[in-house]
Order: sequence, then structure tokens, then C-alpha cells
Amino acid sequence: MPLAHDELGRGEPWVFLHGFPLTRKLWAPQAPLAEAARLILPDLRGHGASPRASPATMEAMAEDVLALCDELGAQRFGLVGLSMGGYVALALQRTAPERVARLALVDTQAAADTEEARARREELARRLEDEGIQVLVRDFMVKLLGPAAQGDPALVGKVRAMVLSNEPEGMAQALRGMAQRPDHRGRLGEIACPVLAVVGQHDEVTPPARAEEMARGVPHGKLVVLAGAGHLSSLEQPEDFNRALLGFMGSGLASAEAGASLAP
Ligand code: MLT
Repeated sequence: MPLAHDELGRGEPWVFLHGFPLTRKLWAPQAPLAEAARLILPDLRGHGASPRASPATMEAMAEDVLALCDELGAQRFGLVGLSMGGYVALALQRTAPERVARLALVDTQAAADTEEARARREELARRLEDEGIQVLVRDFMVKLLGPAAQGDPALVGKVRAMVLSNEPEGMAQALRGMAQRPDHRGRLGEIACPVLAVVGQHDEVTPPARAEEMARGVPHGKLVVLAGAGHLSSLEQPEDFNRALLGFMGSGLASAEAGASLAP
């Protein structure tokens, strides 16, 4: 499954996995991080410009990402996953732990869906197939942004454009893929690489308690709660997010000087 992707910058590779129902454009505010590392930004299967294929399980998406990294010669990399991208990142780390140097889990969770959540996803998938992509703008988008971002028409417009650029069939497949994902909580203690859990203070989809659970559950975990942000914390509070991620990227990159260069 060839993935559409962007590459920015040079040096240590860092792969960024967007959430549902978004695209790699989610990471536009992270472009300044390309001064410190080589950023690899794919559209996951069925999203943005990447083709869709069934099943769109988190494991299948992880295989796509590993194949892309092979093609790009990125053997070992830092991995950043937001929400569904975090589910894919956890699946990838389980399949190929030796490939993941550091793992940033952003507005996501290790837990699987409850039966109730699975049923809600199936209902949404069917409505998407019957009524089209607008269903997500009407009924889903509002959950993504925190209260401050919801009052920012430019930000709302960017998210809406990303959602509308997706095909309903690909979104329905991703919903069914998320519903099938396993629970990673029981194996958090086996994730040996450093882990950064980032979460927006007002994230209602995957609230701060979920991030705390991951940061506490892994041997080398750190938690950052971003004030004022909702579920899309990297987009809503990009400067604070970039600063936290740059610090995690390590190897002296978290200097005050590098932090200062993140200003827009
Ligand atoms: C996402 O933001 O990727 C999804 O909302 C995650 C989810 O529905 O579990």
C-alpha cells in the first residue's frame, strides 16, 4: 500500500501519524521541527491522498508505515501518533519495537473500545456510507476541538477542509478498524523506549486520565498536559506542543535557542 507523504528537513527520522478523520496536513504547524530532524508525514490508508484498502485495521496501517519507512531508508525512527495515529503507533511498536527509538503518544489511549463504543462506530460507519462525508462535519467534528479553538473560524475551517477531503468509504473502514483494535494496557510495561504522552487539557475524546495511564504504565514515561487545548493539541497549541516535542527529541535539540526558533 503506497502512502502519499511529505518529507521535511534532515537528520534523525521522525514519523508523524495523523488522527481520524484527518490527513497529514494536520502537521502543518509542526513544520518548524524540520530544523531539528527529518520529518516523514504520511497520509494513512484511506485518508488524504493515500488509497483505501480493507481491512483498515491499526495493524494494517502500521504495516503500510513500516513499508514506507523501508522505502525511505528510515530503519529506526521517532514515532509520533495523534489519536488514531497513536493507535497505529502502538500497533507498530508492538510489531517492530526495534524500529522505534522514541514514542510520542498524543491525545490518544492504550485502551480498546468498549462494546458501546464499537456499536457507535458501526452506526457512524453506516451513516457515512448512506449520507456521505458531511455526517462527520455535522456530528463528529465538534468533539475534536477544545472550547477556545471552536471559537477560531480559521482553525475550524482547516479542520473542516481536512475532513471534507476524505472519502466516506475510507472513513467507514477506519472506524471499523479502530473498533477492532486490541487493548495495549497490559503490555505498557514492555515498551522499553522513552515515551512522551501529550494531551490537551480539554480533550474529551481521549481525556488526560488516558494519557496519564500510559505515561505511568511504561518504564520511561513522561506526561505533558497542554493548557487550553482540546483533542487536536498539536494544532490548537502548536508552540507549546512543538516545544514539548522538541525537548523529547533529545540529543541537545531542546536548547533554549532551538525553542526560540519555533516562534511562527
Ligand atoms: C481520532 O481523533 O483519531 C479519533 O477520534 C479517535 C477515536 O475515535 O477513538
